[in-house]
Amino acid sequence: MSRKPFIAGNWKMNMTVETGTKLIEELKPLVKNADCDVCLCVPAILIPAMVKAAEGSNIHIGAENVHWAASGAYTGEISTGMLKEYGVKYVIIGHSERRQYFGETDESVNKRTLAALDAGLTPIVCVGELLEERESGKTNEVLDRQLKVGLNGIEDVSKVVIAYEPVWAIGTGKTATDAQAQETIAYIRKKIGELFCPKCAEKVVIQYGGSMNAGNCKGLMAQPDIDGGLIGGASLKTDFATIVNFNK
Ligand code: 13P
Repeated sequence: MSRKPFIAGNWKMNMTVETGTKLIEELKPLVKNADCDVCLCVPAILIPAMVKAAEGSNIHIGAENVHWAASGAYTGEISTGMLKEYGVKYVIIGHSERRQYFGETDESVNKRTLAALDAGLTPIVCVGELLEERESGKTNEVLDRQLKVGLNGIEDVSKVVIAYEPVWAIGTGKTATDAQAQETIAYIRKKIGELFCPKCAEKVVIQYGGSMNAGNCKGLMAQPDIDGGLIGGASLKTDFATIVNFNK
């Protein structure tokens, strides 16, 4: 089992060309000796400038979403080809904010994921339960559905990154405990093993996301099934470098 840790930021709808460039300049020397893969997923319009800012460093620039069609009448959407023009490798798909506010479904997540893989991009597929779902004991049921439908038809599941983001932990400062995150991520791995094969599931990089920060990253990253983090708020500052250097 040799999964390389993967720390990714999700800037969401934050930063500008100026503030983003400044942050990347600050981060570059701080993360250059990282033992993990490092990525910042940024608003689409910032991708060209951030790719330029990150040039020559180990920081990959990723996207926050991608459409399944190659081109066409899909106002407001972005294609895999457009991302690849800038050398983008990673793309977040099915973030809970997309599901909550923009009508994303497990089916649309699946279409976007298949298109990303088809184009040679690495999708970071987000799954996770709402507070009421956890409280009513439905967490596993929700994850089963999100994984079964979201990953349907994938040929090589090891090419997908999964981000487990309990919705109640996103932007709330309420992180899942190390044990809660480990237990749920181990469940996700087991489920992927059932849907695909246990050996393939061992290869899948699974991140935790939800109020992960410079203070709690070490404990989370020490868990055997947690391979990385998807970082919101803390990726907007140099704290992101502390998370990237979680093992130093
Ligand atoms: P926060 O780290 O701000 O809780 O956001 C997590 C997240 O949604 C990353 O995709």
